[in-house]
Amino acid sequence: MTRLLLLVGLGAFTLSGITMTGRAPGETALPAYKDARLTPQRRADDLLARMTPEEKAGMLAGSGWMESHPNERLGIPAIKMADGPMGVRNWAGSSALTSVAATPPFYATAFPAGVATASSWDVELVRAEGRAIAQQAKALGRDMILAPTVNVARTPLWGRNFEGYGEDPYLAARMGVAYVRGVQGEGVIPSVKHFAANNQEFERHRIDETIDLRALNEIYFPAFRAAVEEAGAWAVMSAYNKVNGRWCAENPFLLTETLRKRWGFEGLVVSDWGSTYSTAGTIAAGMDLEMPGGERMRAWLARPETQKSGNDGGWLTEEKVLAALASGEVKQSTVDDSARRILLVMFKAGLFDRPHAGGGEVETPEHRAVARRAATEGMVLLKNEGHLLPLDPARVRSVAVIGPCTTVARTGGGGSSLVRPKDPVTPLAGIAEAAGARIEVSHALGVAMEGEEAGVDARGARDEAVRLAARSDVAIALVGYSSRLESEGFDRKSMDLPAGQDDLIGAVAAANRNTVVVVAAGAPITMTRWIEHVPAVLYAWYGGQEVGHAVGDLLFGVAVPSGKLPVTFPRRIEDSTAWGHYPGADLHVEYGEGIFVGYRGFDRGKVEPLFPFGHGLSYTTFEYSGLAVSTPQVKAGGQVQVGVQVRNTGTRAGAEVVQLYLHDVESSLPRPEKELKGFARVTLRPGEARTLTFSLDPSAMAFFDPGKGDWVVEAGAFEVLIGASSRDIRLKGGFSLVD
Ligand code: BGC
Repeated sequence: MTRLLLLVGLGAFTLSGITMTGRAPGETALPAYKDARLTPQRRADDLLARMTPEEKAGMLAGSGWMESHPNERLGIPAIKMADGPMGVRNWAGSSALTSVAATPPFYATAFPAGVATASSWDVELVRAEGRAIAQQAKALGRDMILAPTVNVARTPLWGRNFEGYGEDPYLAARMGVAYVRGVQGEGVIPSVKHFAANNQEFERHRIDETIDLRALNEIYFPAFRAAVEEAGAWAVMSAYNKVNGRWCAENPFLLTETLRKRWGFEGLVVSDWGSTYSTAGTIAAGMDLEMPGGERMRAWLARPETQKSGNDGGWLTEEKVLAALASGEVKQSTVDDSARRILLVMFKAGLFDRPHAGGGEVETPEHRAVARRAATEGMVLLKNEGHLLPLDPARVRSVAVIGPCTTVARTGGGGSSLVRPKDPVTPLAGIAEAAGARIEVSHALGVAMEGEEAGVDARGARDEAVRLAARSDVAIALVGYSSRLESEGFDRKSMDLPAGQDDLIGAVAAANRNTVVVVAAGAPITMTRWIEHVPAVLYAWYGGQEVGHAVGDLLFGVAVPSGKLPVTFPRRIEDSTAWGHYPGADLHVEYGEGIFVGYRGFDRGKVEPLFPFGHGLSYTTFEYSGLAVSTPQVKAGGQVQVGVQVRNTGTRAGAEVVQLYLHDVESSLPRPEKELKGFARVTLRPGEARTLTFSLDPSAMAFFDPGKGDWVVEAGAFEVLIGASSRDIRLKGGFSLVD
């Protein structure tokens, strides 16, 4: 049939002598795939039909560290990639290579860690960040940014917690969707990663995770699903680990059943770097593009460290794919499907029509402004006894700035996401700038960061800091981790601060009762040894290159804190919900806590967290009133509207993140006491009030019934909880769902 149509088409050409596009005889026809007016589908089909089996097979593996295979004969460009998610990272090679000083410096804007941006609960901001990063990727000649990371923070010890958006699937979904929209809006390909359940670095290449269907669907999948269904994500990256017995890169349940069949994913699946272990099984499962490839891949895989960690690859090379085709292990149509999906994404992103030649301005003032806003909005004021903060320039004459995160900007955690910014703002510089000329700002190291500055005299450094604290009006202790201590590739050994830092805080707080602790970290830390002795704690996370400005602005009240925690802070690691089910043994881990991850588990176990999910203080106050639920009864399939009024009752303009939790009171399976199903971030002037409206659709009321293998909504009572945090519920209402 296709052949016949083609012949008829050709006949029309020769008979008329003039083509439909006005081409004169003798002129070469523009192949359909080069015609930007045609749909991406049409163009991909046309191009695929022109390709030889060898050329199609050749598309399934990369040609280098960060490039897919170009095809000169047909003019198919390589997809040029770079790591994210917190900015464009050097794509020259693995982090081992790009982290060494010999690699020529490469600069892009370092945005705050994902967990910090999630703390802003600001969807528009995340979209703007995605847009800025995509613009920089284009300016650097790249087509694809390996981001966002939407894996859930299952344990505080996961080395990559900082990259993700916290413990709640709904919040992570909102953030991921916003990021993908920002990136794709610029014609850059995102890569939503790592599908699925990459929740630990410990044995990440070999660990087999047993996760029940309900937990997968309710906790670990939603952010991926939303990125696919709502944002129409063009690419998803598979994870290193195994899920329920199969490596993610060759897991048909994940890549075909779930991603493509259930969610309707039309994009391409790219493997994580060095995560493939077979040819036929990987292709049949739904993998499209194996990375990395070519010589770079071979050299990397040959390194003993690479092999030791469990990386593997080189399974989807042209030769191996052709051999699998010849032996009948793989069908040509399956290879065609993968090649078509890659082409389709390239056409959707406009890579044939608007190549990203690079050479543009990398960091614009707007990009810097987004980074600064993100750092500021993302920091969370955890404690502020006696309103020590903001520091009052009329009363404070001297400030001692102490600690290992003072003269170094801790912009991000370690590994493939670490971006090198041109001129990061250190906390010391930011504090000095915000303090102004009238306040004396002095500095002491106090304690060296574990693994840094080996020659420091520990006793002397601490004594100097204590003396400085004692003679200053206020002491600011900037503590936390470094990108060497909290990183991709390994988990943290404990939740404790690195060596000597607890003691430093204790000594400084004893010398000055106006001590503020500022923490740089990507996940919760143990605070029990000093939290009762310090009046104020600001959680800065990894704030990107503008970290110093944000810290200075928040401490001195130039900006008002508005961040809220996207993760529960346990008092002790033993209270965390994966405790006892992590990190597994004999290369196996059972996600025994099921859906009760984070605050869901703290609620169920009636465990008091140190700081609850959703918690964050401001310099102003907000009053919640007038909860209105649109109907006392809703039919299955219907929607409920929830209205609530928020008023700024303080004296400063500020932003509040209003959270809506739902509780299914009667259900056939145990459900959490509350689940986040809506939130709104609203900025209000003093005295100003705003009515917020939330829509609850059936998906908000549903749970995944593993017996039915599907989402179900059951009749019965639902409680609507409106809170300033998950443990500060201000208003309660409800409705019942009827059949
Ligand atoms: C990481 C990915 C990253 C890739 C390429 C992997 O080790 O897990 O997140 O995109 O390397 O650098």
